[in-house]
Amino acid sequence: TITPVLLCGGAGTRLWPLSRKSYPKQFALETGGRTLFQASAGRLSGGNEAIAFTAPLTVTGSDFRFIVTEQLAAAGIDPGPILIEPAPRNTAPAILAAALHLHDQDPEAIALVAPSDHAIPDEAAFQAAVARGLPALREGRLVTFGITPDRPETGYGYLELAAPAGEDPVALRRFVEKPDAARAAAMLAEGNYLWNAGIFLFRVADLLAAARAFVPDMLARVREALDEGRSDLGFLRLGESAWNGLEDLSIDYAVMEKADNLSVVPFSDGWSDLGGWDAVWREGDPDAAGVVTSDHATAIDCENSLLRSESGAVELVGIGLKNVIAVAMQDAVLVADASRAQDVKKAVAALKAKG
Ligand code: GDD
Ligand code: MG
Repeated sequence: TITPVLLCGGAGTRLWPLSRKSYPKQFALETGGRTLFQASAGRLSGGNEAIAFTAPLTVTGSDFRFIVTEQLAAAGIDPGPILIEPAPRNTAPAILAAALHLHDQDPEAIALVAPSDHAIPDEAAFQAAVARGLPALREGRLVTFGITPDRPETGYGYLELAAPAGEDPVALRRFVEKPDAARAAAMLAEGNYLWNAGIFLFRVADLLAAARAFVPDMLARVREALDEGRSDLGFLRLGESAWNGLEDLSIDYAVMEKADNLSVVPFSDGWSDLGGWDAVWREGDPDAAGVVTSDHATAIDCENSLLRSESGAVELVGIGLKNVIAVAMQDAVLVADASRAQDVKKAVAALKAKG
């Protein structure tokens, strides 16, 4: 069996004003009646003759713990263990804590790490891709999933393949996390690169061996935080003094860029990281004029724009707009040039500075 490790401690500031400090995007953004978090958990539950999932292990922040239990219950998913981080330290410490915890219970455990900010419409195709990755685990490989790139995105990791992509896992020559614009354009032109989907499949023992080689201090500190941890209303709260001293580092920089035992399973059935409003616009099926509207939003003579009202009590109307992102909440409104979607995080910083 495979244990899904659900990461949902991110802040999601580029999706302000829908994404808030106390209610980030993964719990707020809905598609098809489920939040991103519920969809991530749902896609990794049940299984078929090829794969079977246990209840998920969730790693999140203290403020979100009841949102997690409520949303899992509402989706009919058994919650499994929930690890609470005293403070966000990015994905490497979160994943190592999950891996150590699983390894303590079963040294043979297999984990599938899943971010909770992705849209993957075809669940069956995704589960089939996971099943294709399983044989590589017998050779001690760390498996990631590769998406065919269609633009020189700088917000993703790039996977250089050692051989042409087929159905089966391909060995990786190199992992390049978040390149600059020139490097991203060069890799897109070269053609033997896939985007890292940010989803990882491994035997926890193999990930821990890589961490021991590349980030031994971090691993030791996470171990301490687990040992210092205490049960709290069914949650496992990691020890604060060890945890707070951890470096903020993503698993991509900590382990994946350095490991030489990575394999990639190509996945071409639809994947998107809903990191910013531009991605939400792209996923929203723009009409012939490039316009996407939500319920309670109306576009008149607009082009290439996203108009969303997040409240049944607020009607949003745009007239003659071009390349505009407008998002209305009951207590906050965003109006931005569409090319500046990545700068929305500046709104959060500016409001924070105002106090
Ligand atoms: N528990 C916990 N704690 N979760 C976290 C933390 C944390 O401190 N920080 C981030 N996460 C969660 C986020 O909520 C998200 O679901 C996931 O981990 C990934 O974090 P992101 O911050 O969204 O990463 P990214 O999108 O910049 O980059 C990663 O994903 C890309 C594809 O979506 C990398 O793996 C890239 O290589 C990859 O291309
Ligand atoms: Mg992301």
